[in-house]
Amino acid sequence: MTPLFALLFDSLDERLKLRHPSRKVANKVFPHNWSFLLGEVALFSLVVLVATGVFLTMFYRPSTAPVVYHGSLELYDGTTLPGAFESILRLSHDVPGGLLFRRIHRAASHLFIAASVLHMLRILFTGAFRRPREVNYLLGLGLITLAFVAGFTGYSLPYDSLAGTGIRIAYSELLSFPVVGDRVAFWVFGGDFPTGDVIPRFFVFHVMIVPALIIGAVSVHLLLVGRQRHTQFPTHGVDGHAFIVGKPLWPAQFAESATLILWIGGLLTASAVFVPWSDISLLGPYVPGEVGNNAQPDWFMFWIDGALRIFPPLEFSVLGLMTVSGPFVAGIVLPGMVFTGLALYPFLERKVYGLRGEWHVLTNPLDIPLRAAVSLGTFSFVLLLSAAATSDILSRLSGISIEDVIWIFRVACLLGPPVLAAGIYRYSTKRLRSRGLVVATDEQQATSQAGGHGAVPAAVTPPARDPSPVSGGE
Ligand code: HEM
Repeated sequence: MTPLFALLFDSLDERLKLRHPSRKVANKVFPHNWSFLLGEVALFSLVVLVATGVFLTMFYRPSTAPVVYHGSLELYDGTTLPGAFESILRLSHDVPGGLLFRRIHRAASHLFIAASVLHMLRILFTGAFRRPREVNYLLGLGLITLAFVAGFTGYSLPYDSLAGTGIRIAYSELLSFPVVGDRVAFWVFGGDFPTGDVIPRFFVFHVMIVPALIIGAVSVHLLLVGRQRHTQFPTHGVDGHAFIVGKPLWPAQFAESATLILWIGGLLTASAVFVPWSDISLLGPYVPGEVGNNAQPDWFMFWIDGALRIFPPLEFSVLGLMTVSGPFVAGIVLPGMVFTGLALYPFLERKVYGLRGEWHVLTNPLDIPLRAAVSLGTFSFVLLLSAAATSDILSRLSGISIEDVIWIFRVACLLGPPVLAAGIYRYSTKRLRSRGLVVATDEQQATSQAGGHGAVPAAVTPPARDPSPVSGGE
């Protein structure tokens, strides 16, 4: 520590009593595994998103009112355009560094959502949702939903032809809500689409409401990680329930995270320069009633778009009180069921296997047949729906009629996931049986026995009661 910094720290410590708590934080042990960096990648891309987003708001015009573009892009010079589209054109072609910041922001948005999804998969497959982390897991599900909303509203702000099509679909989705659909759509969109209010409202969602919710939720999320200690993979010969194998926050973990954020900054900037991101000047402004070909949303919305494309056009009345339509079931009920299933899964696993006590060591999903089946079933379903979002492209490339392509996806989505789930359930049950293992119900029992961490020899009887809370692993 430099003399000046030491002097500053001493005088702050005299007044604020920092030494003890900061030493406690600095000495906090973090287990090491590459997959534990996924949460940090999501976190650091969020930092880049906020930093570049602030720059973009300086030039963005949240309005659809007509404006004449005058600038270096000859294709549009002198053309009357919606204000939002015009401002993005000007930002991209007439503001120094504007296109670079826009592209870094776009790249960071993809990385943020991709890292959050991979982080969630890591949590789900390894069982990091087990007690005491259920609350943090549910908070995480809330976070990923907010990330999707941030992505969708951000994708809509340029008001280009693709964005407009996406907003139109979102509007119809809200309208499809039985009984209250028209009112909800009115509240969110400020009237019948296309309204002049949609872009100013999406702007407020994207730069204020949603980021505030995300930053608040991530702060609580990280506080809980700090408070509950981080899980770890089993280390041979170490009681992972009582002790943590890892490195201290300062300087080791800090150095690793600092390197990671620099790498992320560098890679995002490189991608902004070398990746040919979609150029809105080629898409053109959104003109209500016009839809371009190959109108796919961003990849993280593919599964919802795919569900809307393949779901049969049904509509039925419920006791004459309300009408339920295909778009409502495909675009709202189905994603709702997937998220509800993900939210309830930790409690189901605990109930089905009679799990007891706290779990701090990660488990192999193949040692927990139910988890292997549910996660593979769910994600193969989401992946198949995502593939269905490209049905028009696949039909054109394969020469198979779009109707047949839709039917292929309908059958695949209905049969594929359950068959895969049943197959992996059978495989992992057989695998346990062939090794004479059963699913462990108690971590301390599991730690002290042979076999995978999630499973123990079938003959072993669990200890009477859960021992006192962990002491050595502070
Ligand atoms: C905006 C997105 C998110 C950010 C920025 C974020 C950030 C983090 C960070 C930095 C960690 C510690 C390092 C690590 O384990 O990766 C972490 C841990 C954790 N996160 Fe997230 N996370 C996000 C979304 C999620 C989601 C979607 C879930 C689950 C559905 C989730 C559940 C958890 C849990 C349970 C832990 C504790 C992990 C453990 O102790 O092993 N997080 N998160």
